[in-house]
Formats: sequence, C-alpha cells, structure tokens
Amino acid sequence: MLAEFTRTPGKEAYNSLERETPEAVVTNRGAARVRGGHPWIYRSDIADAAGEPGDIVRVVDRRGGFLGRAFYNPKSEISARIATREEEPVDETWFRNRIEKSIVYRDSLEIDADAYRILHAEADGVPGLIVDRYGNYLVLQVGAAAVERCLEWVTAALEDLLAPAGILLRGDTAVRKREGLEVGVRTLSGDVQESVVVREGSVHYRAEIWSGQKTGGFLDQRENHIAAGRYARGRVLDVFSYAGGFALHAARNADTVECVDASGPALEAARENAALNGYENLTFTRSNAFDLLRERSDAGERYDTVILDPPAFAKTKRDLSGARRAYKEINLRAMKLLAPGGILVTCSCSYHLSQEQMQETLRDAASDAGVTMRVREWRGQALDHPEILTVPETHYLKCAVLERPDIGSK
Ligand SMILES: C[S@@+](CC[C@H](N)C(=O)[O-])C[C@H]1O[C@@H](n2cnc3c(N)ncnc32)[C@H](O)[C@@H]1O
Repeated sequence: MLAEFTRTPGKEAYNSLERETPEAVVTNRGAARVRGGHPWIYRSDIADAAGEPGDIVRVVDRRGGFLGRAFYNPKSEISARIATREEEPVDETWFRNRIEKSIVYRDSLEIDADAYRILHAEADGVPGLIVDRYGNYLVLQVGAAAVERCLEWVTAALEDLLAPAGILLRGDTAVRKREGLEVGVRTLSGDVQESVVVREGSVHYRAEIWSGQKTGGFLDQRENHIAAGRYARGRVLDVFSYAGGFALHAARNADTVECVDASGPALEAARENAALNGYENLTFTRSNAFDLLRERSDAGERYDTVILDPPAFAKTKRDLSGARRAYKEINLRAMKLLAPGGILVTCSCSYHLSQEQMQETLRDAASDAGVTMRVREWRGQALDHPEILTVPETHYLKCAVLERPDIGSK
C-alpha cells in the first residue's frame, strides 16, 4: 500500500552553513570510536546535543575538538552518523560530489551488467543512502532522516549525472520505522514501471523494483551468481533460489537445475526468468528447505552441484547460536547430497556470523557428515557493495565454494 508522504522541505529548512549548525558532544568512548574510523555514534555515547531529528550536526569531543559533521537522529539507537570529517558544509554540492565519486568508482569496476549498486551508504560516504541501478531506473533506500530531508538534492544530482527514466524510493524498509520516517514506496521522478528486465552477465531477469525483496534483486550476489555458473554442472539443486539468481547462471552448463524456495511468487518469477532466457532445464519446487534437504539426503539422492543462499538466520547477535545450528544443518545435508567431485556453493548474509564462525560451522558440518570438503575459494559481496576496513558492518556476505573431492571420505 502506498503511504502518503509529507513533502520534502525547501532548501531553507536544511542546516548548511547558512544557519548555525547544531552541535553534538560525544563521550570519550564515542570520540575514540569515531577517531578509529567508524562513522556511527550510539545514543549512549552522546553526552549533549542540540539538534533535531534530521539535522546535520557538528560533532565534537568533550574538549570541543572537531570530529566531523553527522546526520543526527536521537530517535535512532545510532543517533549520529559521520558524513564528513572535514569542516565543510553538507549541502547540495556535497551530496552531488559524493554521488559523482560513487559513480566514478562503479565505472572503474567495468561491471558486466546493467543492474548494480551505485551508492552503498557508509561505504560511499553517505550514511543511510542506497542507490541501485536497474537498467534505466534508479531505486533508492533511505534510512536516515537527514538524507530524507535532502532528497530533492539527491534526486537532482542523480537526474543530472545519470539521466534515468525514473527514480523510485523503496521506503518500505524496517529501518525507516526506527528513524521515525514514513513507510511506503513512491516515485521521486519520472514514470517508474512495476518491473524491469535487466542483464547480469549472460543472463536476463525481471526485477520487481516496486515490490521485490531488497530493491528488486540480490545485487550483492551478482559476482557469485556468475562464478557459480562457471562451477555448475550435471544435476543442480539451488536451495533458497528466490527468482533464480544462481539457477539461471547454473542452467547454461547444467543438465538440470531444481529451484527450491518457500515462496510461491519467487518461484513464479524464477519460472518466468527461465523462459525469458530460453532455458528448459529448470524445475521449481515450493518447499521448506530444511525439510527438503533432510528428505533428499535420507533418500540417498545425489547432486553434482548444490547452492545454498539462505536468508540471514542471525538478524541480531542474540540469534547467533540458533543460526549456527541452522547453517550447520543445511550445510551438513547439502554435503551429504554431493556426488564425488560435486560442488557446494554456500552463502551467509548474516553480518553477525563472522567469516571465522562460518568456517567453523562448515568444518563441523563436514565432520558430522563424514565427508572431506576441499576449499575451492572464499568469496564475498560484489565489489559495487564495497567494504570499509574500519567499519566491520560493511562486510556481511560470505560465500564459500567447496568441492567434495573424489578421493574417498575423511
Ligand atoms: C537470500 S534470498 C535468496 C536469493 C537468491 N539466491 C538470489 O541470489 O537471487 C533467500 C530466499 O530464501 C527463501 N526462504 C526463506 N526461508 C525459507 C525456507 N525455510 N525454505 C525455503 N526457502 C526459504 C526466501 O523466500 C528467499 O527467496
């Protein structure tokens, strides 16, 4: 359902240097974190602040030392996000410069697709803003009240720099509630179609940009989709397939690909995508992945390639031990299902499960399954979703490519 949105306020409402910038004083702990390269300041680390939700504040330490300018929102647990560490106005020109630099970086990646991330929030220096490209359309997610107030500037810069046919705001994310922002989806400019056919390497797929998961596709998996396509062969099982992100690439070299997902609409989309590419070797099974993997492994089924791309099982730190059990279970079953020489492509998009913990979980799964698994490669999120070393939260997607070598069991 589309929500009524309040209009973006006029330029006079923004606090650039034209009006005195409110100040936020942070604790020593908060200051140390910012100096260490992290842009987030938690509510508990704000000693004193004059700003209102959506303001851009000057952040100083207890002695008045300048730390940066930040997007401020005391309603959010992360109450300030450093936008710049320079004494500079965060105004229309600033937004345009940041957007331009993020486009230049994407151009340097020579991405073989027309759907990819153009701006990845903190990792591109604009906390709370995501810009994805789907063909001629741009889809935005805004999770910071300050960015919401500056949307006119963002939209104008994107129109000028990229000339899209339309810009859509996917304002239906949970984070917006926490920021006190209205929830809904709306057009920011142009006329935006319900869905758009885009290209990813040799594959085309239809992205439901108004209603699909994330902004319409799992763009962070683009490079892993393409890599999995190179490994896939024989009988392939793509578990948690969504609209066929992995399956479509696997189909080219495989005999058969079975897409498994709990969502009927996702499988319908996968079926349409298969037809779009002229593939006739895909089948679609609606099932709970845990049940299906257990049944198939108990039945002694064998696959040459298994792909696991579950949703984040650990959404918070508290979920971690349950999530580890779930990751172990699906991986153990998948390993048992592999024929000798078979390949497992296994992913986790849980930030709270570290790379080391995922490695440990996979080790436990292989050990309990009684199979030897050889590491072919460790992969991460696509390069248009950059990671910042000092911001661990920017590294969330892990993807291991493992082989069950034809050298007997362990
Ligand atoms: C991360 S997405 C998969 C993305 C997809 N592999 C791609 O690359 O485009 C996770 C998918 O898992 C599905 N899902 C969630 N829980 C499930 C379950 N218990 N059994 C089967 N599918 C499930 C969701 O419907 C969603 O499509």
